[in-house]
Amino acid sequence: MKRHPVMAGNWKMYKTVADTEAYLLQLIEQLKSFPSLATEVILCVPFTSLQAAMRLVQTHQSRIRIAAQTMEAATEGAFTGEISAVMLAELGVHAVVLGHSERRQYYNETDKTVNAKIKSALQHHLTPIVCVGELLSEREAGLTDTIVTQQVVVALEGLSAEELGLVIIAYEPVWAIGTGKVCEAQEANRVIAFIRKTMARDDVRIVYGGSVKPDNIDGLMALSDIDGGLVGGASLEVGSFFKLIEATEQAAQAHENATLTR
Ligand code: PGA
Repeated sequence: MKRHPVMAGNWKMYKTVADTEAYLLQLIEQLKSFPSLATEVILCVPFTSLQAAMRLVQTHQSRIRIAAQTMEAATEGAFTGEISAVMLAELGVHAVVLGHSERRQYYNETDKTVNAKIKSALQHHLTPIVCVGELLSEREAGLTDTIVTQQVVVALEGLSAEELGLVIIAYEPVWAIGTGKVCEAQEANRVIAFIRKTMARDDVRIVYGGSVKPDNIDGLMALSDIDGGLVGGASLEVGSFFKLIEATEQAAQAHENATLTR
């Protein structure tokens, strides 16, 4: 099954509009060295940067896709401070991160709210990037597979077969996010293969997230089930994010060659 790789940068609460513009201009320029890019490059930027980022990728006809980092499930209403799928779609935003562990930890995101948000995102033609992953205590108690199964099953409940095919899953073990402790590549691959089996869908793209860096990306991308990365810290500097895209691109090429010569 051929799945297009994804390299997504999650800036979190970093970068002003001016920072966003400077970064994107550099990345757009650097990506010109790849006239045909197999990797889907996504930048998940703060709400305040969405419009400027969209304007730049459109003006430069860049294939970089712009995403938001969260949204509200309702399309409009008395939800002070929130942003809806309608508002993101109006800007031409491509995707939205849902269920990130920081949203779960600090803003009461649950599998049920993630499920409602996924449905709303899909209704407005936004690609949901759905984050799942266990806490360290859950891993130590041997509950990793149980937790990710529950997260995936509840978050994706009620989606049609067609909708399921549009979702990107990010397996992000919580203990590996922002800690420098990357999940061992074989183990990340095992959990990702397990999630894909749980979903009973070979075509769904599942990426790994949690301390992905230029020096560990090759090991992750070499494995069969890892389709790319959702990257926080190492996406903040354009040079290191570009290296991650290059590595993803090389891995895609290697997979392609392996398939051709098989
Ligand atoms: P990190 O963050 O790459 O800084 O660990 C990943 C994420 O939160 O998506």
